[in-house]
Amino acid sequence: MDARGKVAVIGAGLMGHGIAQVFAVHHYAVAVFDPNPKVLETVGSRIQTNLCDLGEDPSALDRLSFCVELQQAVAGANFVVEAAPEDLELKRELFKSIEAAAPPQAILASNTSVIPITQIMAALADRTRCLGTHWWNPPYLIPLVEVIETEWTSAEVLDRTIALHAALGKTPVHVKRDVAGFVGNRLQHALWREAIALVEHGVCDAQTVDTVVKASFGRRLAVLGPLENADLVGTDLTLAIHKTVLGAIDSRPYPSPYLEQLVANGSLGMKSGHGFRRWNADDIAALHAKVTWHLRDAQRRDAGEHGATPPVPGNHR
Ligand SMILES: NC(=O)c1ccc[n+]([C@@H]2O[C@H](COP(=O)([O-])OP(=O)(O)OC[C@H]3O[C@@H](n4cnc5c(N)ncnc54)[C@H](O)[C@@H]3O)[C@@H](O)[C@H]2O)c1
Repeated sequence: MDARGKVAVIGAGLMGHGIAQVFAVHHYAVAVFDPNPKVLETVGSRIQTNLCDLGEDPSALDRLSFCVELQQAVAGANFVVEAAPEDLELKRELFKSIEAAAPPQAILASNTSVIPITQIMAALADRTRCLGTHWWNPPYLIPLVEVIETEWTSAEVLDRTIALHAALGKTPVHVKRDVAGFVGNRLQHALWREAIALVEHGVCDAQTVDTVVKASFGRRLAVLGPLENADLVGTDLTLAIHKTVLGAIDSRPYPSPYLEQLVANGSLGMKSGHGFRRWNADDIAALHAKVTWHLRDAQRRDAGEHGATPPVPGNHR
């Protein structure tokens, strides 16, 4: 077995295969389980394509094994990460089986997008070794992994998990309380809720919402977080803006009826050719290519391949 130890990835869809890839690139022996044989069959070729696109060493593939049995995947693993469908009952059952088959010292992590880890792990016998590791898509291009502590997680498990993901070249952050949506998806979906409300209430169309974000604060979000920005403009201005605007922003604690209607009508987005906007195959391919190019360019800049960016003096409100 590889000197770095064994990692088991449970669920080999969009997220699972990418997470498996990152561990394999970093010299872990990775056992991948998926109950769907068609999915399992294609994990290797999907990772191979990614590695080829990224110009990375294909020898990472040699460290992957594909398991038709969950027990086989988790046996001997030091770290188990679950990336199965976003369904609480499914994940609860899955972790019961994982706990029964994994070595007692293995760390058990869920990649759930928004479900509290506490709910997923509540029925387990040893909950001190359980936590959340929330990766972002695509896992090999987006740096962040939110490491979510529960009331039961031991300090040692938390520290080891953060160190592990830092060693993978990721940007792990410690989420101290296990709240639904953690940090990233709470922020992201606060924005999406208002984006949908603006369209629902006829303030502008969907294309305009996207243009406003992409051509304004979206440009600087990767280098200027919201609270850095609040400090930059001043907390006094931030307070004045909030006194005027917060009462006008959507705060309904349920999904927009406009969104409910889209789904009821079968307007499911790119997969049905229409959602908030209309999509044909060329638009979809072009957008995927643009996003991938942008993320790879950001990764190259992070790695310093474009050289140091000189600081530009000025007012970035
Ligand atoms: N898609 C994203 O952008 C994203 C980002 C972060 C987190 N997540 C979360 O990651 C998890 C996986 O999402 P995804 O987008 O990869 O989904 P996906 O549908 O692409 O993949 C899920 C995989 O799980 C497999 N599966 C089904 N039942 C299973 C079981 N009982 N045990 C093991 N595997 C099983 C399916 O065959 C499928 O291959 C979800 O919890 C999701 O919310 C998704």
